[in-house]
Amino acid sequence: MKSRGRITSSTNIVGIFGDPVRQSISPAMHNAAFRALGLDFIYLPFHVYSKTQSTLKNAIEAIRALDIKGVNITIPHKEEAIKFIDEVSPDAEAAGSVNTIVNRNGRLFGFNTDGEGFLIGIKKEANFSPRGKNIIIIGAGGAARSIIFSLLRKKASSVVVANRTEARAEALARGFRKTLKGARISAMGLDVKEIERLAPRADLVVNTTSIGMMGKGSMDFPMHALEKNAIVADIVYKPVETDFIKKAKRCGLRTHNGLNMLIAQGALTFRLWTGMDAPQDAMLKAALKALKENG
Ligand code: ATR
Repeated sequence: MKSRGRITSSTNIVGIFGDPVRQSISPAMHNAAFRALGLDFIYLPFHVYSKTQSTLKNAIEAIRALDIKGVNITIPHKEEAIKFIDEVSPDAEAAGSVNTIVNRNGRLFGFNTDGEGFLIGIKKEANFSPRGKNIIIIGAGGAARSIIFSLLRKKASSVVVANRTEARAEALARGFRKTLKGARISAMGLDVKEIERLAPRADLVVNTTSIGMMGKGSMDFPMHALEKNAIVADIVYKPVETDFIKKAKRCGLRTHNGLNMLIAQGALTFRLWTGMDAPQDAMLKAALKALKENG
């Protein structure tokens, strides 16, 4: 397993499937981790086009055919990928999507480390535990689903999902009420006045939408209505400090940025592939460097 940083005929291949994939900083992050521990692994980006039918299916079949040890799955394939793997973990099942595949002797196992990564990151960074907490989630997409599942499983007291398309939030909340007994989850539109009314009870607010990504768009969120000990989190990591996080800081609130979640979910993936604890400092350093270089 040890390497001197050279690729040989016994190097273990892992990678990422996405469309686009160029923006991903995961190759930099994981390759730095492999180097730091001297592991004979290489992480490659695979541009798996989404326009042509069966491309994703063929790419996943190729994991077996080429003895690739595992891959990350990113936009837009996370949900569809679940159809093509052999066994799905409870997290991936509940999230309805996979972000990690592990190839164990030709059998493909699907995981979703997003929700757990979020919890590990926010515990480490802001000492937050979900039990008994009231949480507002903005957005109702795949990322929201993973995070909500982890929060509810760890006994969050209540979750309110606020989404631009209210019907999508309602469908998501209904789904969780059905599958998780006793889950207190409700839905609403992105209505500032209504959020302002709920905000004083919130212990945590999480933006799971792409608002603020690459500095695009900003959210009209009533930060002033939150209590001083509330935590504001964003899953967007480019820029590391989004407008949403900046606003929260200006209000004196504790914050948690998307880069922490990225590193924590990456560390979980690293362990699934290698069985080892990830060198998270090396991963963070490489991620920050890649973010700077990608512009
Ligand atoms: P992901 O898997 O990354 O969560 P997704 O499933 O496409 O991506 O979900 C994106 C989420 O961001 C959705 O909740 C979306 O709201 P809609 O359901 O109304 O589409 C939300 N979103 C994206 N851009 C937004 C914007 N400009 N304003 C408000 N919400 C936005």
